[in-house]
Amino acid sequence: MNIPTQKSGDSKAQIYEQLIPGIESLIKGVDNHVGALANVSAVLHSSFRYYFWCGFYIVKGDSLELGPFQGEMACYTIKKGCGVCGKAWEERRTIVVPDVLQFPGHIACSSKSRSEIVVPVFKGVEVAGVIDVDSEAYNSFDDVDKVGLEKIARIISPLFG
Ligand code: SME
Repeated sequence: MNIPTQKSGDSKAQIYEQLIPGIESLIKGVDNHVGALANVSAVLHSSFRYYFWCGFYIVKGDSLELGPFQGEMACYTIKKGCGVCGKAWEERRTIVVPDVLQFPGHIACSSKSRSEIVVPVFKGVEVAGVIDVDSEAYNSFDDVDKVGLEKIARIISPLFG
Protein backbone atom coordinates (compact mmCIF):
# COMPACT_ATOMS: atom_id res chain seq x y z
CA MET A 1 0.00 0.00 0.00
CA ASN A 2 0.98 3.62 -0.45
CA ILE A 3 1.66 4.84 3.08
CA PRO A 4 0.46 8.39 3.69
CA THR A 5 2.76 10.56 5.74
CA GLN A 6 2.49 13.82 7.63
CA LYS A 7 5.49 15.02 5.67
CA SER A 8 3.23 15.26 2.60
CA GLY A 9 1.57 18.24 4.27
CA ASP A 10 -1.83 16.61 4.70
CA SER A 11 -3.75 17.23 7.90
CA LYS A 12 -3.91 14.32 10.29
CA ALA A 13 -7.64 13.94 9.56
CA GLN A 14 -6.77 13.46 5.87
CA ILE A 15 -4.07 10.94 6.77
CA TYR A 16 -6.48 8.88 8.87
CA GLU A 17 -8.99 8.94 5.98
CA GLN A 18 -6.31 7.74 3.54
CA LEU A 19 -5.18 5.04 5.96
CA ILE A 20 -8.60 3.42 6.40
CA PRO A 21 -8.89 1.81 2.92
CA GLY A 22 -5.17 0.99 2.99
CA ILE A 23 -5.49 -0.90 6.28
CA GLU A 24 -8.62 -2.67 5.05
CA SER A 25 -6.77 -4.03 2.03
CA LEU A 26 -3.59 -4.74 4.03
CA ILE A 27 -5.37 -7.21 6.34
CA LYS A 28 -8.02 -8.58 3.97
CA GLY A 29 -7.91 -12.38 3.85
CA VAL A 30 -4.80 -12.59 6.06
CA ASP A 31 -5.01 -15.58 8.42
CA ASN A 32 -1.78 -14.61 10.19
CA HIS A 33 -3.31 -12.26 12.76
CA VAL A 34 -0.04 -11.50 14.57
CA GLY A 35 1.62 -10.62 11.28
CA ALA A 36 -1.30 -8.49 10.18
CA LEU A 37 -1.34 -6.54 13.47
CA ALA A 38 2.44 -6.08 13.18
CA ASN A 39 1.93 -4.59 9.71
CA VAL A 40 -0.85 -2.29 10.95
CA SER A 41 1.42 -1.01 13.75
CA ALA A 42 4.20 -0.44 11.19
CA VAL A 43 1.89 1.52 8.87
CA LEU A 44 0.54 3.69 11.71
CA HIS A 45 4.03 4.32 13.10
CA SER A 46 5.36 5.47 9.74
CA SER A 47 2.35 7.64 8.93
CA PHE A 48 2.43 10.01 11.90
CA ARG A 49 5.56 11.82 13.11
CA TYR A 50 4.23 12.10 16.67
CA TYR A 51 3.63 8.34 17.05
CA PHE A 52 6.58 7.44 19.30
CA TRP A 53 5.16 4.04 20.27
CA CYS A 54 2.13 2.31 18.84
CA GLY A 55 0.80 -1.17 19.21
CA PHE A 56 -1.74 -3.52 20.64
CA TYR A 57 -2.53 -5.19 23.93
CA ILE A 58 -4.77 -8.25 23.74
CA VAL A 59 -7.20 -9.41 26.44
CA LYS A 60 -6.24 -12.76 27.99
CA GLY A 61 -8.32 -13.63 31.05
CA ASP A 62 -8.12 -10.73 33.51
CA SER A 63 -5.07 -9.13 31.87
CA LEU A 64 -3.93 -7.35 28.75
CA GLU A 65 -0.97 -9.08 27.09
CA LEU A 66 1.52 -7.28 24.86
CA GLY A 67 0.87 -7.78 21.16
CA PRO A 68 2.61 -6.51 18.02
CA PHE A 69 3.98 -2.96 18.23
CA GLN A 70 6.51 -0.46 16.87
CA GLY A 71 8.76 1.47 19.21
CA GLU A 72 10.75 0.82 22.35
CA MET A 73 10.29 -2.33 24.43
CA ALA A 74 7.14 -2.42 26.55
CA CYS A 75 5.65 -4.20 29.55
CA TYR A 76 4.18 -7.63 28.91
CA THR A 77 1.11 -7.61 31.13
CA ILE A 78 -1.37 -4.99 32.35
CA LYS A 79 -4.14 -5.82 34.82
CA LYS A 80 -7.72 -4.64 34.22
CA GLY A 81 -8.13 -1.12 35.65
CA CYS A 82 -4.36 -0.46 35.76
CA GLY A 83 -2.64 2.24 33.72
CA VAL A 84 -4.28 3.98 30.79
CA CYS A 85 -4.71 0.68 28.91
CA GLY A 86 -6.38 -1.13 31.81
CA LYS A 87 -8.66 1.86 32.47
CA ALA A 88 -9.76 2.08 28.82
CA TRP A 89 -10.58 -1.65 29.00
CA GLU A 90 -12.44 -1.34 32.31
CA GLU A 91 -14.37 1.77 31.26
CA ARG A 92 -14.90 0.49 27.68
CA ARG A 93 -14.03 3.86 26.19
CA THR A 94 -11.23 5.75 24.51
CA ILE A 95 -8.98 7.64 26.93
CA VAL A 96 -6.93 10.63 25.76
CA VAL A 97 -4.17 11.66 28.16
CA PRO A 98 -2.63 15.10 27.40
CA ASP A 99 0.04 14.69 30.11
CA VAL A 100 0.84 11.17 31.29
CA LEU A 101 2.65 12.55 34.35
CA GLN A 102 -0.74 13.74 35.63
CA PHE A 103 -2.56 10.44 35.01
CA PRO A 104 -2.93 8.49 38.27
CA GLY A 105 -1.50 4.99 37.83
CA HIS A 106 0.05 5.63 34.43
CA ILE A 107 2.46 2.81 33.54
CA ALA A 108 5.67 4.32 32.18
CA CYS A 109 7.02 1.74 29.74
CA SER A 110 9.26 4.53 28.45
CA SER A 111 10.28 7.59 30.45
CA LYS A 112 10.12 9.54 27.15
CA SER A 113 6.34 9.24 26.81
CA ARG A 114 4.44 12.48 27.51
CA SER A 115 0.96 11.97 26.06
CA GLU A 116 -1.06 8.93 25.14
CA ILE A 117 -4.30 7.63 23.62
CA VAL A 118 -5.81 4.22 24.27
CA VAL A 119 -8.74 2.93 22.18
CA PRO A 120 -10.65 -0.24 23.03
CA VAL A 121 -11.14 -2.85 20.33
CA PHE A 122 -14.54 -4.53 20.61
CA LYS A 123 -15.53 -8.00 19.48
CA GLY A 124 -19.30 -7.89 19.78
CA VAL A 125 -19.96 -6.36 23.19
CA GLU A 126 -16.66 -7.56 24.71
CA VAL A 127 -13.39 -5.62 24.74
CA ALA A 128 -10.89 -7.93 23.01
CA GLY A 129 -7.89 -5.61 23.29
CA VAL A 130 -6.71 -2.04 22.93
CA ILE A 131 -4.78 0.17 20.55
CA ASP A 132 -2.16 2.14 22.49
CA VAL A 133 -0.27 5.12 21.07
CA ASP A 134 2.34 7.21 22.89
CA SER A 135 3.95 10.52 21.95
CA GLU A 136 7.09 12.20 23.25
CA ALA A 137 5.24 15.55 23.21
CA TYR A 138 2.47 16.76 25.50
CA ASN A 139 -1.07 17.17 24.04
CA SER A 140 -0.44 15.15 20.88
CA PHE A 141 -3.83 13.45 20.69
CA ASP A 142 -7.27 14.94 20.15
CA ASP A 143 -10.69 14.07 18.75
CA VAL A 144 -9.24 13.55 15.26
CA ASP A 145 -7.02 10.75 16.59
CA LYS A 146 -9.94 9.38 18.63
CA VAL A 147 -12.29 9.22 15.62
CA GLY A 148 -9.57 7.85 13.31
CA LEU A 149 -8.32 5.19 15.71
CA GLU A 150 -11.86 4.11 16.65
CA LYS A 151 -12.53 3.50 12.94
CA ILE A 152 -9.29 1.52 12.69
CA ALA A 153 -10.26 -0.44 15.83
CA ARG A 154 -13.47 -1.58 14.10
CA ILE A 155 -11.53 -2.66 10.99
CA ILE A 156 -8.89 -4.67 12.88
CA SER A 157 -11.29 -6.24 15.40
CA PRO A 158 -11.38 -9.60 13.50
CA LEU A 159 -7.61 -9.91 14.10
CA PHE A 160 -8.13 -10.13 17.87
CA GLY A 161 -8.66 -13.73 19.00
N1 SME B 1 1.40 3.64 29.30
C1 SME B 1 0.55 2.47 29.23
C2 SME B 1 1.37 1.21 29.29
C3 SME B 1 1.76 0.68 27.97
S1 SME B 1 3.03 1.50 27.25
O1 SME B 1 2.71 2.91 27.07
C4 SME B 1 3.49 0.84 25.85
C5 SME B 1 -0.48 2.51 30.35
O2 SME B 1 -0.40 3.34 31.26
O3 SME B 1 -1.37 1.67 30.32
